[in-house]
Amino acid sequence: MAKIQITKTELVWPGKYNQDGTLTQVPRANLPFQVIEVFNQTQPTRQPEWRNKLIWGDNLLVMGSLLEKFAGKVDLIYIDPPFATGTDFSFTAQIGEQQITRQSSAADETAYRDTWKIGVGSYLTMMAERLRLIRDLLSPRGSLFLHCDWHVGHLLRATADEVFGAENFLNEIVWYYYNKFQGNVKRFASNHDVVFWYRKGTSYQFKPQLEKRPEGKVKQLARQWDKEKGAIVNAKSADGRVMYRETDERTVDDVWRISMLQPADRTENCGFPTQKPETLLQRIVQAASCEGDLVADFFCGSGTMLAVAEKLNRRWIGCDLGRWGIHATRKRLLGIKECRPFETLSLGKDERRHWQGVTFDRDQPAYVAFILKLYGAQPMAGRTHIHGNRSEALVHIGPVDAPLTALAIDDAVDECAMLKQRELHVLAWEWETGRCDVIVESARKKGVKLLLLQIPREVMEQEVAGSGGVRFFPLAYLEAEIKQADDLTMQVRLTDFVILNPELISEDVRGRVKTWSDYIDYWAVDWDFQNDTFMQGWAAYRTRKERKLPLVSGVHPYEEAGNHRILVRAIDIFGNETKQAFDIGVSSRSAGPLLWATPTGRSAGA
Ligand SMILES: C[S@@+](CC[C@H](N)C(=O)[O-])C[C@H]1O[C@@H](n2cnc3c(N)ncnc32)[C@H](O)[C@@H]1O
Repeated sequence: MAKIQITKTELVWPGKYNQDGTLTQVPRANLPFQVIEVFNQTQPTRQPEWRNKLIWGDNLLVMGSLLEKFAGKVDLIYIDPPFATGTDFSFTAQIGEQQITRQSSAADETAYRDTWKIGVGSYLTMMAERLRLIRDLLSPRGSLFLHCDWHVGHLLRATADEVFGAENFLNEIVWYYYNKFQGNVKRFASNHDVVFWYRKGTSYQFKPQLEKRPEGKVKQLARQWDKEKGAIVNAKSADGRVMYRETDERTVDDVWRISMLQPADRTENCGFPTQKPETLLQRIVQAASCEGDLVADFFCGSGTMLAVAEKLNRRWIGCDLGRWGIHATRKRLLGIKECRPFETLSLGKDERRHWQGVTFDRDQPAYVAFILKLYGAQPMAGRTHIHGNRSEALVHIGPVDAPLTALAIDDAVDECAMLKQRELHVLAWEWETGRCDVIVESARKKGVKLLLLQIPREVMEQEVAGSGGVRFFPLAYLEAEIKQADDLTMQVRLTDFVILNPELISEDVRGRVKTWSDYIDYWAVDWDFQNDTFMQGWAAYRTRKERKLPLVSGVHPYEEAGNHRILVRAIDIFGNETKQAFDIGVSSRSAGPLLWATPTGRSAGA
């Protein structure tokens, strides 16, 4: 083994260096992005110059893939990564119009994980690589604000010093949240976080900030700039006496006294664990960027940084790997008055293909065996379409990089029937078909009970896969009716949301669901779906404050008569998406009474 040359003071951890003494570096990927949804795009163009971006995926791959276009272009990056607390963070999903209390465990969902079973070294390897990518994305006058706390703050400071250069460290900001009291500890309560500020190069932006003095007005010495001395000095009157001024403001220093979000707050607090207050981010964004600058948060959680950037007229990019974070952010941004157009993106099947390559070296059986294990099933050799079994049921696993076709499901059903087995579980990442009930019914006619289950994105997270806490949700479908409301106008009404195997949903949750719409948290309509990106034309969603969800859309005007495809998309209380396409004909004059109807030309979901 080569000797590692330590030439400077540095933090080392198991795994930092390769055996040959070179620094371990995670290979950077450059994958294409897919635009999944576009919001608030009122102009007819589908390709505007700039849209703010919310990206669902692992920030390692996301940042690597952004480099081609954005290296050296981002003016401010704030990150609030997991703090290596050893805990997984959950939150209570709300059901329908009910206000669920904290005591109830009915809909407890994991928002994100922060357990590092292989040790803090794996956490630092993860962070070091991301810090390098952040540095490459920053513009020459750009800054990083790195939020952490006592758990690993000391280690992150040393790591960031190495990546950015200790000479580029500007501040250790202490955020003191005076209104959160950590009780029952036999030491002083931990009531602050820290934010490290690094610049990329020697020039950087800084606008001093003012705050109100908690003590009110004070009298203080007036100070002024003395050109000759090149220093700030006490201001003096014509007769040489020092002057005083009264003020209730002070220049902000590196201790920020900002209140923590309160659980009872229903305006800003969206229920996401570890959500930060907007006032904290406002200060950072205002101090270190200008209007029109590009700012980013690659661990965006509920999107606090992005909401603030939007309100302060910055362009923004956000990223999170959890579906809860992405969903909370989407709703939060939609709730901002006059929010500019933004899009959600992912690396889609390319991310999955990359993961399969890195994790299983493209070994298909190893990938299948891995998913089977997570599902609690055993591999089964010698079959064409059947990969394993779980007790009496046979199991088929869909491909990693393509939607599972109805034909492939049919083949597996036929093989199951041929083997005289009565139950088949099909697990897939993506589905070719929208009306899953039709396939289930056709399997039933062949004597096979068919269960269609979604493989969640979390499967790709190392820590999740090891924990065995992966949930495979049953597919659902939407029923809707559409009516021509008037000349050249259309309107959609949701009429049902059917979870195919509700028995797989916990009894606790089912017990609280009073009607099918209680399962829906958000739904939206694309009035002219072009079989690619979902262009949100109308949307409705529940918030912590407003639990009611309208089931009838607004009226959409078309410019001229013709055929269109409407796509209806819903996100349920588990954060899963269901969509359904409807082919409609819009006429210039509504013929006869205006009735709700399910279009006959209904097509499969896109
Ligand atoms: C502390 S929370 C951020 C909270 C956020 N500042 C807010 O105000 O809501 C950390 C977030 O990082 C996300 N995360 C963790 N690892 C990630 C990764 N590799 N890529 C992208 N996001 C990640 C988690 O899903 C979680 O939402």
